[in-house]
Amino acid sequence: MTVSEDNKLLLGIDLGTSRTAVQSNRGYKNIIRSVVGYPKDIIGIKMLGKTQVFGEEAMKRRSALTIYHPLQDGVVSETGGGDFNAAAELIRHVVELATEGTSGDPCGIIGVPARASIVNKELLLDIARGIMSSVMVVSEPFMVAYSMNMLSNAIVIDIGGGTIDICGMKGTVPSIDDQVTFLKGGDYIDDRLQTAISQQYPETQITTNLSRMIKESYGFVGPTEKPVQVTLRAEGRPNVYDVTEEVRNVCESIVPEIVEHLAAIFRAYDPEDQPEVLQNIILAGGGSRISGLDQMLIDHLSEYGKANVVCVDDPDFAGSNGALKMAQEVAPEYWDQVGFVGSR
Ligand SMILES: Nc1ncnc2c1ncn2[C@@H]1O[C@H](COP(=O)(O)OP(=O)(O)O)[C@@H](O)[C@H]1O
Ligand SMILES: [Mg+2]
Repeated sequence: MTVSEDNKLLLGIDLGTSRTAVQSNRGYKNIIRSVVGYPKDIIGIKMLGKTQVFGEEAMKRRSALTIYHPLQDGVVSETGGGDFNAAAELIRHVVELATEGTSGDPCGIIGVPARASIVNKELLLDIARGIMSSVMVVSEPFMVAYSMNMLSNAIVIDIGGGTIDICGMKGTVPSIDDQVTFLKGGDYIDDRLQTAISQQYPETQITTNLSRMIKESYGFVGPTEKPVQVTLRAEGRPNVYDVTEEVRNVCESIVPEIVEHLAAIFRAYDPEDQPEVLQNIILAGGGSRISGLDQMLIDHLSEYGKANVVCVDDPDFAGSNGALKMAQEVAPEYWDQVGFVGSR
């Protein structure tokens, strides 16, 4: 298909459960937390000087705000309206950031968690159509596969904040049967790690935010490379604690479910394709940075043959990169065509 960019301002957006990345064909690139906050009262409005706050700023000012994580569980809740409005405002905000100071009609492809791409597709399309002149909504793991040019006989495991999405690529847009979502992403690990550390060292003060920082710095599975020793506070006083076992056990706790779904998706391929699929297993999302995960999956798949598991180079931008690449390769005029990428 021909590239038709003329004056079009093309955007690739990855609307993740934890972070939203955006890239444009004019070189803009940014990532913010998928958070929207509204001042709780008039004091908050006065203090902040605005009625909505996004991303890191919203997290910093959270005591003055009502906070929404519109896609936290991998879907936009359509009841109550809060998540719906927050999702719309988040999309509007990143589009505004990416288009500020440039001209042209913004057209964007939005990658969303696999489950949202199925259950919220119409809703998200409606929201985004009010913001951009052409839109397509596709699943995030599909965007990751697109960015790597691995559209068939490959499996993407996307470990995000709220969910893990596993998606089998079969040369077409993945159907419901080709993808699985479960609620065991990074947030789940953070909660479990917080509990594990406070059980082992009840005197320490540990928040989810701290346990997330420990996981991001030291997260690993399998054999210990070196002990994980962190400084925590007990009754205000700092002390060094060994949390090696806690970090390992909690990070490993997501593996059985990944393997179970991965194996089911793998076995659904035709037997003659299975050897190739086994060579094309992609780990994506922030959780792909957990050290040793690729090797552990290879070990668990050994009964099927020798697997090859690769981590994407840039987990933060792999999805938005795939979305932008698709926007550049497939002209927006085609986005609405029935049968293509299932946009409508
Ligand atoms: N170095 C790291 N090790 C382990 N987990 C990490 C690391 N860096 C980020 N993460 C986790 O990845 C998750 C966010 O992944 P991301 O792909 O951005 O999510 P989403 O697409 O759902 O928004 C968070 O739980 C974060 O703590
Ligand atoms: Mg993601």
